[in-house]
Amino acid sequence: MPQYFSVFKNESKLDINFIPPRLPHRGPQLNLLNQFFRFAVESPGKMTQRVMITGKIGTGKTVLSKHFGLSITKEAQERGISLNYVHVNCRECKGSLFMILQRTILKFYPHFPRRGYSAEELLQALMQILDEQNAYLILALDELEALIRVEGSDPLYNLTRVQEDRLKALQRLSLICILRQPECLDALDPSTRSTLQRNVIHLEEYSKLQLRDILNDRVNLAFRHGTIFAPTVDLIAELASSEGGDARYAIELLWRAGKYADASGMREVSPECIRKAAVSVYPVVRKDIISSLCLHEKLFLLGVARRFRQAETAYMSMGEAEDAYAVVCEEHGEKKRGHTQLWKYVKDLSVAGIIETKASGTGQRGKTTLISLPRVPASDLEEELSKALMQKGGKSIVN
Ligand SMILES: Nc1ncnc2c1ncn2[C@@H]1O[C@H](COP(=O)(O)OP(=O)(O)O)[C@@H](O)[C@H]1O
Ligand SMILES: [Mg+2]
Repeated sequence: MPQYFSVFKNESKLDINFIPPRLPHRGPQLNLLNQFFRFAVESPGKMTQRVMITGKIGTGKTVLSKHFGLSITKEAQERGISLNYVHVNCRECKGSLFMILQRTILKFYPHFPRRGYSAEELLQALMQILDEQNAYLILALDELEALIRVEGSDPLYNLTRVQEDRLKALQRLSLICILRQPECLDALDPSTRSTLQRNVIHLEEYSKLQLRDILNDRVNLAFRHGTIFAPTVDLIAELASSEGGDARYAIELLWRAGKYADASGMREVSPECIRKAAVSVYPVVRKDIISSLCLHEKLFLLGVARRFRQAETAYMSMGEAEDAYAVVCEEHGEKKRGHTQLWKYVKDLSVAGIIETKASGTGQRGKTTLISLPRVPASDLEEELSKALMQKGGKSIVN
């Protein structure tokens, strides 16, 4: 029997959660973070810090923050300081401060009771835990848009003020706020906003050459020697730079291309594998994004995709989208959500970059919102969504 050959030596190095040992082209930003948080290892308790990381999708915001978290906690540990870095994704927490704090506390106390507290009380409990353990915390709030959208100004206000209320106590809680759209800070009260805007690290989109360096590191970590060559890596860098300098897209292309090579029994990841992968990975239908949508967001989006596939138009009105959604709900035996909820989905989906919205111009009776799907073929989106809905048996737990 011929032995099964894989071009990969370690596929997990291409996983979105993998934190690579070095981050090409993010050295200066990493230094800046270290400078901002120097005090945390030199004179902990004397001050706290709030830093904001901004940048488009795939510019390395998440990995930069996590990488920094790993290195600074290690350094603190060597100095005998209990410095903790906790990274929470606000979107996964459904934009709820309560859930964010709960996850944070569970890192310290895995058995902390899950019920019976308000967010306010959880924040006090967190501070108390830090005091008791003489610990310091850098809390990274990733995809902060979700928290602001759902709960407005209050959570950040409370998180930034909680120190100031503890007059003589040690300063224990610092924040890293990670977001794609700095405009969403406009929704905050002026003082919270100005506190956050003091230290901003903005990540620019990667250039083709920068993407090539990032990819080369991953090739060395994940692929067997001699299975993928420089011009092929260049092709990926080229494609990803035309997709907005998105490293996530680049790495997903690399991975999928490897899968194609394996599936067709090839010993090399050829440029054709890349092209095949590119057809199947539109940046907005990536699995991680689809799977993060709740059931009714999927159903709504399926309605939108289907309608766009059938009608050769660039825009549809909110009313048309609702009709299409209603049909999909019926097919799936789901009770449709109300108007207000649908508005929220539309907002979420546009924040996620899947759809775009604009107000209709004058001429139409009354103003309505128009939805477009600029970045992905409707048929591909429809197919991915149908697959995702099938996997869950159509009737997953509603959230
Ligand atoms: N400078 C870099 N070096 C190595 N890998 C990177 C770099 N920037 C981004 N990546 C990788 O690209 C992918 C997307 O990065 P991520 O931090 O998730 O972007 P963002 O949070 O800005 O959307 C991840 O797999 C990440 O590890
Ligand atoms: Mg991210």
